[in-house]
Amino acid sequence: MRTPLIAANWKMNPAPAGALGTSSPYRTHAAVDVIVFPSFLDLKECLAAKLIAGPQFASPEEPGAHTGDVSMTMIKTLGCRYVLCGHSERRADHGETDADVAAQVIAALERGMHPVVCVGESQEQRKAGKEKSVVKKQLAGLPLESDITIAYEPVWAIGTGKTATPADAQEMHAYIRSLLPENRRNGTRILYGGSMKPENAEELLKQPDIDGGLVGGASLKPDDFGKIVEIAAAMQK
Ligand code: 13P
Repeated sequence: MRTPLIAANWKMNPAPAGALGTSSPYRTHAAVDVIVFPSFLDLKECLAAKLIAGPQFASPEEPGAHTGDVSMTMIKTLGCRYVLCGHSERRADHGETDADVAAQVIAALERGMHPVVCVGESQEQRKAGKEKSVVKKQLAGLPLESDITIAYEPVWAIGTGKTATPADAQEMHAYIRSLLPENRRNGTRILYGGSMKPENAEELLKQPDIDGGLVGGASLKPDDFGKIVEIAAAMQK
């Protein structure tokens, strides 16, 4: 049994109103693990408010002369357990390569943190029928035998309102699971991300290999996010 995990990626947005309050839907839930990925500016306040919070990126370098970056070690010292690695927007905006992402994942694990690693193909790659080979390559350099979470986020579904069909998402999730080493095949959570919202969450989350969601736009709307968490909580798998 894998406990569902619903993660909010607030991207470059402030924390939604009420997120830090006592009845915040971003608090972890009896039946669902809930994590928030705020901007660096909001991280400390989220932790102080007892949300389970991590950064959207952290540098694998040791603290030192790296202007503009925040290191994995600093994040760990702050009290974060989770860190997002390799989001497609980081890959596109900052040129992060698969090797960069692997270095982040390894640095996180070395510091006792839990990486949530994003993979996913572009529209062109899917049109060319290359989605599985792209994802396989993105996973190839990762320490898959370790305790990590994988988020499958097809790039064409992020922020576009287009969602992978539950069947397509399930097919990719099952494929990703088949690539995991035996010792981690059942235990690793694989999240879906890309225009997840209350209207489509049930169909997606009910797929056997979809263990939760990495939610962008809808995570900025507390009511919608809370609904997704409740849908995951009600899921009988
Ligand atoms: P949207 O939910 O806005 O499509 O974003 C998904 C995402 O990128 C989460 O990391």
